[in-house]
Amino acid sequence: MTRADLRIAVLISGSGSNLQALLDAIAGGEIAGRIVRVISNRAEAGGLERARRAGVETEVLPHGDYPDRETYDAALAARLNTVSPDLVVLAGFMRILSDGFVEAFQGRLVNIHPSLLPAYRGLHTHARALQAGDREHGCSVHYVIPALDAGPVIAQASLPVHETDTPESLETRVRTLEHRLYPLVVRWIADGRVAMRAGRVCLDGEPLSRPPCITAGTP
Ligand code: GRF
Repeated sequence: MTRADLRIAVLISGSGSNLQALLDAIAGGEIAGRIVRVISNRAEAGGLERARRAGVETEVLPHGDYPDRETYDAALAARLNTVSPDLVVLAGFMRILSDGFVEAFQGRLVNIHPSLLPAYRGLHTHARALQAGDREHGCSVHYVIPALDAGPVIAQASLPVHETDTPESLETRVRTLEHRLYPLVVRWIADGRVAMRAGRVCLDGEPLSRPPCITAGTP
C-alpha cells in the first residue's frame, strides 16, 4: 500500500475526541490514509462538527428511523459500502452491532474500549475497575467479532490507578491514553503491519501471543 491509500470510515455517537485524534494524526502525516466518511447515529454528536472542520464528509443515520437493529445495520452497511472503506473505525459508536454487520466487515472493523480487555467488557468500566481495587487500568483496541468487546486485542495502553481516583478522573486519564493508542494502531494497519488471520492478530507477520501495551509514561 502506498501512502494515503487506506480508506477509513469512522462511526461515532458522541463528542468524537478519538475521531479528532485520528484527524490530527492524519493531518500530521502519521497515518498513511484518510477518513473518507464519518457516520453518526445521532445528529447532535459533537464529532460531526470536528469532521466538517477537517473537510471530511459526514452523514447522520438516526437509528430511530429504523424498525429494528438488523434493518438499521443493513442501511449502515449500505452507506459504508458507498465509500468502499478498507477500515471501519468505531470511535464511541454507542450501538451493539448485529452479527450480520460484523461478519460483513470482519477483519476491517476495529473498536476502542476503555478497559484492559478481557477485563470489564460492556459499560461502566472505570467504576468497575475502581470497585475491584485494580492498581492498573487502561484501554484496548481490538478487532470486532460478534461477541461484545470480545474480539482479538491488537494493542493496549495502561496507567496506574491512584488512591484518589474517581470514575471521572480515571475516564479523563484513560481518554488521553486512547488518543495515543488509536492513532498508533490505525497507523500500523495503514502500514500493513497488522491483520487478523484465522481469528488472531498478526503483527509484522507473527501471531501475537500478548498484545503490546504502551504505558502512561511512555513518550
Ligand atoms: C471512549 O471512551 C471510547 O473508549 C468509548 O467511547 C468513548 C468515545 O469518546 N468506546 P469520544 O466520542 O471519542 O470522545
